[in-house]
Amino acid sequence: MSSPILTLRSVVAGYGAGDILKGVDLEVAPGTVTCLIGPNGAGKSTVLKCVSGLLRPRSGTVSFRGEELNKLAPRDRLLRGIVHVPQDRSLFPAMTVWDNLLMGGYAMPDQKEVRRRVEAAADVFAICRERAREPAGSLSGGEQKQVELARTLVLDPGLILLDEPSIGLDPKSRTQVFASIRRLAEQGRTVLLVEQNARSGLAASDFGAVLETGVVRLVDRGADLLTNPEVARLYLGGNAHSSLSSAAAASSPGR
Ligand SMILES: Nc1ncnc2c1ncn2[C@@H]1O[C@H](COP(=O)(O)OP(=O)(O)O)[C@@H](O)[C@H]1O
Ligand SMILES: [Mg+2]
Repeated sequence: MSSPILTLRSVVAGYGAGDILKGVDLEVAPGTVTCLIGPNGAGKSTVLKCVSGLLRPRSGTVSFRGEELNKLAPRDRLLRGIVHVPQDRSLFPAMTVWDNLLMGGYAMPDQKEVRRRVEAAADVFAICRERAREPAGSLSGGEQKQVELARTLVLDPGLILLDEPSIGLDPKSRTQVFASIRRLAEQGRTVLLVEQNARSGLAASDFGAVLETGVVRLVDRGADLLTNPEVARLYLGGNAHSSLSSAAAASSPGR
């Protein structure tokens, strides 16, 4: 692929005594959507935190546009265009939709530019104008997710990190969220997302990566992971009780 916009090399990270990420290697190509899948607790959200700076790796490196990020605070990564949309709803529910968009640029010194970008984001996400004066908390979950995506644009992001964007949404809203994610990529944004709903996530993505027990086991085109029998069995609606590594061991000759 073209030279990666984001590179993780041998990233080891955790919260307490043990390591959650045990040497994660991952490359993300610019202008693409990459979906990280894997069982609950594998460390998917932890990967995103290591990129946005909410968690410092114990060892290994995270590089964005060739620059090592390890020593940079979350705010400095934000100003470099790395935006993290966490799994939980992150809008200020009592503030209007429009004020929430303006908050997206709170860290930017040029507030005139922030207002210009909010207008541009509202051109892309129609809901922002339709519901501009309403409290964000009065919108449905799917509508709030659209506003959250719009808000990322205020930072002119080079990399958008999305943690389970479709969780808790009805099927129609889910379809809309994935369509919006595709639109972000078509505008040249790079997206790294985590999805529990692996089938929809991979279908909306150019590339997919499978994270198991803190290691990336497999990287491939999203479409190829969708038709990979082991991935299908483990993550696309089969019994997700095994792992790719044990599946490979079980199917290897001599076992
Ligand atoms: N803030 C935290 N403090 C302690 N342990 C955590 C924290 N966040 C996550 N963990 C633990 O790290 C592991 C991986 O979590 P996470 O990255 O959220 O997994 P995933 O997103 O793949 O479900 C889990 O065992 C989880 O309990
Ligand atoms: Mg998670």
